[in-house]
Amino acid sequence: MSGSKKILITGGAGFIGSHVVRRFVKQYPDYTIFNLDKLTYAGNLENLKDIEKASNYHFVKMDITDSAEINKLFETHQFDGVIHLAAESHVDRSISHPMDFVFTNVVGTVNLLNAAKNIWKDNMDGKVFYHVSTDEVYGELGDEGKFTESTPYSPNSPYSASKASSDHFVRAYHHTYKLPVKISNCSNNYGSHHFPEKLIPLMINNIMHNQPLPVYGKGENVRDWLFVEDHAAAIDVIYHKGSIGETFNIGGNNEWKNIDLVRLLCRMMDRKLGRGEGVSEQLITFVGDRAGHDFRYAIDSSKLMNQLNWQPSVTFEQGLERTVDWYLANQDWLQHVTSGAYREYYQNMYSNR
Ligand code: NAD
Ligand code: TYD
Repeated sequence: MSGSKKILITGGAGFIGSHVVRRFVKQYPDYTIFNLDKLTYAGNLENLKDIEKASNYHFVKMDITDSAEINKLFETHQFDGVIHLAAESHVDRSISHPMDFVFTNVVGTVNLLNAAKNIWKDNMDGKVFYHVSTDEVYGELGDEGKFTESTPYSPNSPYSASKASSDHFVRAYHHTYKLPVKISNCSNNYGSHHFPEKLIPLMINNIMHNQPLPVYGKGENVRDWLFVEDHAAAIDVIYHKGSIGETFNIGGNNEWKNIDLVRLLCRMMDRKLGRGEGVSEQLITFVGDRAGHDFRYAIDSSKLMNQLNWQPSVTFEQGLERTVDWYLANQDWLQHVTSGAYREYYQNMYSNR
């Protein structure tokens, strides 16, 4: 059941946020969806071209660190729910520019919590503040085991430390002010509209353009990959059915060593591009490791699966095929996001490794 609700989604012009906005706009025509985004390098309204004219969709360009503007927006619209995704999200950028992560991820989140607390203080019934977080807050794993909801926080990068801090504020606002919060911690996502600074879209882009494929260290680090539309589906079910005050882990049960994943992409793209077998693999270049590089992440999503009946809808092979096909069919998107500032970033990031 939906009912006419006003929901604020932050970071909706980014990778995961755009999939969440699209899903909510389409699935819940009775809801009014406000997409708040600062449009940093990672935010792109082209991601939402297909729904931008929907009558239940509104875009607001705003910075979550601007508390006065945020408070005004909440007072004007009296949102029923918030799904908070806006963040600085790239570990490598957090190593070179940690303060951006403190401002947006910590201060920005607390601003949103304060604004929600102010407008909901007299009646919190039916209200939801849903904070979207990452499995990286739990730190790194060795060869065995998986993160559960009770794994102690042990963030290692400025990115994960800022996300952990924001998670703690969200929990504290529930404990102290009874703010109706939910949190989810998800593993690495992949899919369409993913900015090509992260592993999978960067490799797809470089394979396409016959550029070196920079694998950090020996490529032995392990990540658990989830198709972004399955993350959006999990956010939907948790938003509607998860209990207030609860945390849910979301993962793909799909662990890959980076080097194996890059080789899989090379094989898939050689086939799609009509290149000979093994041609793209020759582009693989081992480069200096990331500082403090977490060895392995793996998520136990059994709480979400058992309590809310969620499960991934695609296999990794299917999701990756769809992702590669999307990038091949949308080279103009890639071209737009990789011009100008991206080129400078890429040069600085990879020239001295
Ligand atoms: P992204 O970098 O693609 O998008 C972030 C969005 O937030 C962009 O549209 C950007 O413009 C916006 N934004 C940044 N700073 C802002 C500010 N100060 N005010 C308003 N908007 C601002 O990130 P993503 O990969 O889509 O991640 C979304 C959320 O999911 C983040 O909170 C991230 O920590 C979390 N998450 C991501 C992954 C992943 O694999 N990408 C996994 C688990 C959790
Ligand atoms: P990334 O996509 O940045 O996600 P995260 O660091 O948040 O998990 O990186 C995924 C893995 O791929 C991580 O182990 C670092 C590695 N990696 C490379 O080997 N080369 C690259 O160029 C990038 C961007 C990442």
